[in-house]
Amino acid sequence: MAFHPVSDVASVREACERARFKGQRVGFVPTMGALHAGHLALVVEARRRSGFVVASIFVNPTQFGPGEDFARYPRDLDGDLRMLASAGADMVFAPDALEIYPPGEKTRVHVSSLTAGLEGALRPGHFDGVTTVVAKFFAIVGPCVAVFGRKDYQQLAVVRRMARDLMFPVDIIGHAIVRDPDGLAMSSRNRYLSPDERRRALSLSRGLDSALGLFERGERDARALERVVIESIVAAHVDVDYVKATDTESLSPILGSVSTTALLSVACRFGSTRLIDNVVLGEDRAPLVAARET
Ligand code: PAJ
Repeated sequence: MAFHPVSDVASVREACERARFKGQRVGFVPTMGALHAGHLALVVEARRRSGFVVASIFVNPTQFGPGEDFARYPRDLDGDLRMLASAGADMVFAPDALEIYPPGEKTRVHVSSLTAGLEGALRPGHFDGVTTVVAKFFAIVGPCVAVFGRKDYQQLAVVRRMARDLMFPVDIIGHAIVRDPDGLAMSSRNRYLSPDERRRALSLSRGLDSALGLFERGERDARALERVVIESIVAAHVDVDYVKATDTESLSPILGSVSTTALLSVACRFGSTRLIDNVVLGEDRAPLVAARET
């Protein structure tokens, strides 16, 4: 069975209020569709934690830059609805852009500092688009537990900060990265890769795996840990945007050595397709494996 998606704000708000009135916890999973097992793991996690699960499908125009892939972002609403039904969602919110950004709207939500580096440095305005749309969703869904993937680690950190700063009654849960059996982090954008690019893309997770191994054997120098990842990616003839060790909370670069934990993030380009991946040194273990919640 597949769903009929709901496209208006009032219906979602009403359904969530009704669920809470019955004493149910509301679970929320925002997505941009073109769903894969990584998204579904978030829905399963929301299902486990709540009685009424809402998933949203909305390719949010404000988080794409001028040269980015908004127009060709993959869309497969029917397939998505079937997958969400089987993963246990109760309602799917799939609004039009005008429902979320009605004429005359003028508000953007900006989180400072956490958005300065990593993806924020390469995609100006991206996180303002993310926090704006997520704030709107939180205001529509109301008190809930919202599940986000650690695949977009910076996004998770930024949304957490926003929810705290704006006092949204939302519990934010971070879910481990879900990977294909060979280690590639699942992404809606993986479908853009040719078979040859798909093979070379494995250099990201393999490089991160090597860094994890090195860390487990005692290496603490941030540059040395970054270097093994860069070497893996460059050897596969992939264009590197960045490989960076940062603090897991502030996301600021680690200059000398890692003390207990560090976020090691990577972003690469295959033509106009960007892929990102990360590990948390001191938390994740080599070899990289699938879904574990934090
Ligand atoms: P999207 O890229 O569709 O991702 C939706 C959610 O799925 C995000 O929380 C993302 O981190 C998570 N996710 C994607 N791939 C994953 C994987 N392999 N393992 C675990 N989680 C994964 O992120 C967005 O959409 C948007 O920015 C959004 C938050 C919906 C706002 O527009």
